[in-house]
Amino acid sequence: MSESPVPKIPPGHLFCFGLGFTASRLALRLLEAGWRISGTTRSLENVEKWTSVGIETYLFDGTASITAKDDLFSDITHLVASIPPTDLGELPLLFHQKQLVSSEKLKWAAYLSTPAVYGDRRGALVSEADLPQPGSRRGERRLKAENSWLNALKNSSTSIQIMRLAGIYGPGRNVIDQVLGGRARIIEKQDQVFNRIHVDDIGTILMASIDRPNDGAIYNVADQEACPSGDVVRFACNLVGITAPEPILFEDAELSEMAKSFYSECKRLVTDKIKNELGVELQYPTYREGLKSIFESG
Ligand SMILES: NC(=O)c1ccc[n+]([C@@H]2O[C@H](COP(=O)([O-])OP(=O)(O)OC[C@H]3O[C@@H](n4cnc5c(N)ncnc54)[C@H](OP(=O)(O)O)[C@@H]3O)[C@@H](O)[C@H]2O)c1
Repeated sequence: MSESPVPKIPPGHLFCFGLGFTASRLALRLLEAGWRISGTTRSLENVEKWTSVGIETYLFDGTASITAKDDLFSDITHLVASIPPTDLGELPLLFHQKQLVSSEKLKWAAYLSTPAVYGDRRGALVSEADLPQPGSRRGERRLKAENSWLNALKNSSTSIQIMRLAGIYGPGRNVIDQVLGGRARIIEKQDQVFNRIHVDDIGTILMASIDRPNDGAIYNVADQEACPSGDVVRFACNLVGITAPEPILFEDAELSEMAKSFYSECKRLVTDKIKNELGVELQYPTYREGLKSIFESG
């Protein structure tokens, strides 16, 4: 678990639409700090897993509303929306917008988005002040999702923030595991760089935002070093003492449509706002600190 302290925020009741990698790490930190946590997952197995650690967990797969209780949201104070958008739109809003908007105690919400909304910037710096120009279906859908959340909560008493997350990694999801599993590849595409972000730095940023809500604010949530993914793979290989794989030219790599879409855009994220407005110093400012910590903690 992260060593970052939980800011001195009074415990509330967090509801996570999607107890995935990011939301569940945050949830566990807040649970330890005395918060009440509820959330959703699509599988019975995960319902059991999260219930067993003290999270009130509901099945929600986006095909029907959560039927557990009529007053499910009446007591929640904070909300994290981490379910990716679908062609139908924003699933939580599709089924629960009315309840969320009328939830009197709900004072803070965060929508977990992606920098895909900016589109391709040919390696240029991009800050939250730059207008989104999505160049992919993925980016368009995200922008629509962001706007759905901003609009849904506009006239409510809830402060809504948009978090545009770079490539998420952390314990249990990282390139060291790929290297050890023989799955790591070095794809070479000239001038291509990506930002990343450690999952526990996201948690710290979300907690800082809970402490300093700013209705309608957008944050780039990323590390301080955009770099080619090959650098990260080589660093991980070096850490574990394995020879790095031979690079494959982008043109020759057989990539999934999703991966191709990632490689079709290039930008460097400006992250001053998380420091200046939320006061967060990243615990893992680059992949080097992040991977080293994951490696050392086994
Ligand atoms: N991974 C990245 O590098 C990255 C980068 C930028 C932004 N993002 C976005 O940021 C958010 C959080 O990322 P993450 O990696 O923490 O997410 P994640 O681990 O993939 O978790 C997503 C959560 O949403 C739930 N979910 C997915 N599709 C659903 C559906 N159709 N209906 C109901 N629930 C559904 C999942 O349910 P289960 O519990 O059943 O799996 C899971 O709890 C996501 O929206 C993700 O797309 C990710």
